[in-house]
Amino acid sequence: MDERKNIVLIGFMGCGKTTLGKKLSIKLKYSFMDTDRYIERKEGMSISQIFEEKGESYFRDLEKNTVEILSKEVGNIIATGGGIIKNEQNMHMLKETGIIVYLKATPEHIFRNIANDDTRPLLQGEDKLEKIRILMEERRELYEKYADVTVDVFPGDVNQITERIERKLERYNEKGMHNTRPKS
Ligand code: S3P
Repeated sequence: MDERKNIVLIGFMGCGKTTLGKKLSIKLKYSFMDTDRYIERKEGMSISQIFEEKGESYFRDLEKNTVEILSKEVGNIIATGGGIIKNEQNMHMLKETGIIVYLKATPEHIFRNIANDDTRPLLQGEDKLEKIRILMEERRELYEKYADVTVDVFPGDVNQITERIERKLERYNEKGMHNTRPKS
């Protein structure tokens, strides 16, 4: 059985949690989980549809149920939705079995990543960059508060950022706080 703690990726929408999480899971030989994809599969609906038809608070309940389930396992990389930090209980559960990695990005970087993406209900409508700025300002403190490890996602490509995450995790491991080394 995989005894290693989970690696939980938190950060703003579009910072690369899914892409980087998948890449990291291959390199470190972890299984990969994604709270949004888990919810979509379970509900048979996209995140946008859930927001539109059932509302945000319904989505947040689903998100909390998902965290409850996923944080009971270990040995997974878990990419979370950007709003996971809004609920203290979510973060408490995730921290019990995982190390929290905050992928830090500027609003401009996020905007470049998701300028043409319309799958994020909270960023629909006019002036996306301003919406990103406002929401990020609201959430910054929470991301920072829960982070065990913080990694900048700029500059660099996916490979370079993945290596940056690995190095930070390695340093964290060396402090004897945790072990995320690949299985030998
Ligand atoms: C949200 C982020 C989204 C998704 C939902 C709400 C948020 O996930 O969970 O649209 O509140 O920041 P990503 O961070 O993967 O885009």
